[in-house]
Amino acid sequence: MNDDDELCLCFHITRRKVAQYIRVNRPKVPSQLSECYGAGTGCGWCRPFLKRLLDDAEAKEPLPDAQSYAAERAKYRQKSGDRPPK
Ligand code: FES
Repeated sequence: MNDDDELCLCFHITRRKVAQYIRVNRPKVPSQLSECYGAGTGCGWCRPFLKRLLDDAEAKEPLPDAQSYAAERAKYRQKSGDRPPK
């Protein structure tokens, strides 16, 4: 996943925006990342990835590429029966 790829697909928030938010605001818990344009407050798919970024800003394990990330989210949403954010 590149910095300009969307990490939170519901709200079109890029990895770069989240990383910058973490660097500047130094949140203590992942839920505080919702203050970054609402990241993680839609379907919930991106929450584990938000936590990974917060746990290790240098992410030891690289995030998946944008295409497979979006495809896995589609499967996640089908399983959860989630509705799109308002
Ligand atoms: S992808 Fe972030 S809340 Fe849905």
